[in-house]
Amino acid sequence: MSLKRAKITGIGRYLPEYILTNKELETMVETDDEWIRTRTGIAERRILKDPDKASAFMATEAAKEAISDANINADEIDAIIVGTVTPDYFFPATAALVQKRVGAVNAWGFDLSAACSGFLFALSSGSMMIESGRAKKVLVIGADKMSSIIDFKDRTTCILFGDAAGAVVLEEADSGGIIDFVHHTDGDEECSLYQPAGGSLNPPTVESVQNKLHYIRQDGKVVFKSATRGMADVSLEIMERNNLTGDDIAWLVPHQANLRIIDATARRMGLDPQKVMINIEKYGNTTAATIPLCLYDWKDRLKDGDNVILAAFGGGFTWGATYIKWEK
Ligand code: COA
Repeated sequence: MSLKRAKITGIGRYLPEYILTNKELETMVETDDEWIRTRTGIAERRILKDPDKASAFMATEAAKEAISDANINADEIDAIIVGTVTPDYFFPATAALVQKRVGAVNAWGFDLSAACSGFLFALSSGSMMIESGRAKKVLVIGADKMSSIIDFKDRTTCILFGDAAGAVVLEEADSGGIIDFVHHTDGDEECSLYQPAGGSLNPPTVESVQNKLHYIRQDGKVVFKSATRGMADVSLEIMERNNLTGDDIAWLVPHQANLRIIDATARRMGLDPQKVMINIEKYGNTTAATIPLCLYDWKDRLKDGDNVILAAFGGGFTWGATYIKWEK
């Protein structure tokens, strides 16, 4: 049996309307626009204000656009994978809510928890379903309502994150498509970037809420160092495995956590800065959504045959890179 490959045939996104600027954050915590821009590259981020809407809503909107872009019907989808750390519920899965709302009546699906690497891990899982011949069309989504787990009084985290969703449709490729991936998980740093309560270890109590244990906690310096090293190392690893030099690569699609982390990764890869997709200034870190949001913003500039490297790093720690020979 010859190995099939998967390729991205449709891309969609959802961005909440509300724009939270650095200037507005200045009125909420002791910070300033200049500090945020120079330390992170972020100018503004989107916030989903409607209390009745959450990750599944954003995921569904992004999925509908991706399905339409791929020019397929929802009932053709075999599987749905949603990368998220802010599911509407622990169960049922966000994938089940999306399945119903887009009308993917023949699909099974599940959520995947890998924090900021969620989209990449979901993309690889979906592409392996297609490679195995078990699925012909897979919907892969990254969706996070980060504002639901952010303490807007904590200036070390609230400046970084935003809400959004991005989605792609995967189908069989005739040539090109998703060629390779390298992914890693290291649980050594479980408390360097995490949400302490809400799970089975620390179920919600009055005390856990009073102690703000349902919000993100992070050791910014540890995460910064590990992310800079991890994203650069894994990107080089995938380049070496596939005999690629910086000149061979058309685009780097990096997770958008911090502009300084992105710049360091691109430098280690020997890439011209013009080849790096960066939109962190507009959206901040949208966790599982950053990579599909970049693909969406650059979709008209991606050409068949382009060598594209996706790279991410996130809580867990989790990190990875994926090599795509672009073919739509
Ligand atoms: N506004 C103004 N000052 C701030 C601030 C803010 N929003 N947040 C922190 N500071 C202050 C600190 O209190 C500190 O003050 P001090 O020197 O008086 O103690 C000073 O700025 C420097 O803080 P530091 O933590 O050293 O800044 P930094 O350059 O490491 O940047 C982060 C902080 C969070 C931007 C950076 O560590 C980072 O990006 N880490 C990775 C986070 C990440 O990407 N997470 C998701 C991974 S997927």
